[in-house]
Amino acid sequence: MKKILITGGAGYIGSHTAVALVNSGYEPVIVDNFSNSEKSALEGIKSILGREVKSYEVDCLDKNGMEKVFQENDFSGVIHFAASKAVGESTRLPLKYYSNNIDSLIILLELMSKYKVKDLVFSSSCTVYGQPKVLPVTEATPRQDAESPYGNTKKICEDILRDFILSGAASRIVALRYFNPVGAHPSSAIGELPIGVPANLIPFVTQTAAGIREKITVFGNDYDTPDGTCVRDYIHVMDLADAHVKALKYLSEQKDNFYDIFNVGTGNGNTVLEVIKTFEKVSGQKLNYEIGPRRTGDIEKVWANTDKINKVLGWDAKYTLEDSMRDSWNWQVKLGKK
Ligand code: NAD
Ligand code: WQD
Repeated sequence: MKKILITGGAGYIGSHTAVALVNSGYEPVIVDNFSNSEKSALEGIKSILGREVKSYEVDCLDKNGMEKVFQENDFSGVIHFAASKAVGESTRLPLKYYSNNIDSLIILLELMSKYKVKDLVFSSSCTVYGQPKVLPVTEATPRQDAESPYGNTKKICEDILRDFILSGAASRIVALRYFNPVGAHPSSAIGELPIGVPANLIPFVTQTAAGIREKITVFGNDYDTPDGTCVRDYIHVMDLADAHVKALKYLSEQKDNFYDIFNVGTGNGNTVLEVIKTFEKVSGQKLNYEIGPRRTGDIEKVWANTDKINKVLGWDAKYTLEDSMRDSWNWQVKLGKK
């Protein structure tokens, strides 16, 4: 059975991917420092699979600790989720973001070279596109100056991967540019665990409906969009997890020294008000929301052209926005007031 190292595997996307990997016949091994996750995620994975997934509490910046993980396991590939991801925090603590997100990748590439582990799937983001001039965005859409240090780390990491391959490295690498991940495992055993006040739309919506927050502010309704609110491509985390499994299979079919990039989205854009209405419909909850001013740095509209991933990886988003809202709500109900 092929062993896959999942850094950040206790996190939101990593935990769902661990489950998807086992269900596709891989043996995931999780490394996480639990800086933005809880050990309960490992219990959640266990309850879905009926067995434990091997895990290490190690920081990806700890090269000796990581080397021990490589020595103890014969990996055939790596999925690198571990990163700090809060856009707002990254503007206050840029060095934390540059260090955690970039150094962890460099250490990983060094160890992968040393231990001859060729295949890597890297978590990138649609944030690299900024506000694109032409929509939907393809992988050839030019990247723009990053809106935040966080966004810049994703651009820099993509450049590191490109240069690593250009240097002749034997590796095979795919960067997946996620659009907006939402939803949770339909069992409600795992899901997103925001720490503190969520900055992202869906956890704020579900926490408001759960009574943790009094109300949610819609950031602006004077944009050039169908109802004036911002448009995003909301992709269910189950579909996203499946894209990683397909990316690993694709990598195993490539020759050495290979790099490719894929958008991972549904191909549809939805406004904030559409999201809220869909949430209200599937949850039966009336959401207390108000229209407020625009949020500084917000992108007006972005959604993915998914032709490349549809054709090349044979991947397609299967879950609808209704599914996403239902699963996000069921997860919040399970969390209760948390
Ligand atoms: P998450 O915070 O839930 O998961 C990341 C995990 O990595 C956490 O469990 C955290 O504890 C761990 N981690 C962080 N730094 C670490 C380190 N130095 N050593 C070991 N573990 C470490 O985030 P997520 O939403 O699952 O995101 C996963 C990846 O996808 C990240 O790289 C993120 O930037 C990227 N991404 C996320 C989104 C999103 O909106 N969720 C969108 C695009 C890209
Ligand atoms: C979605 C929409 C808000 C909260 C961020 C990162 C990006 C990527 C995904 C990692 C926007 C609106 C939100 C609220 C609102 N992450 N909103 N009220 O901004 O698309 O992207 O997460 O790579 O890098 O920047 O996601 O969930 O914050 O916002 O009206 O209380 O919801 O204005 O239109 P965003 P989001």
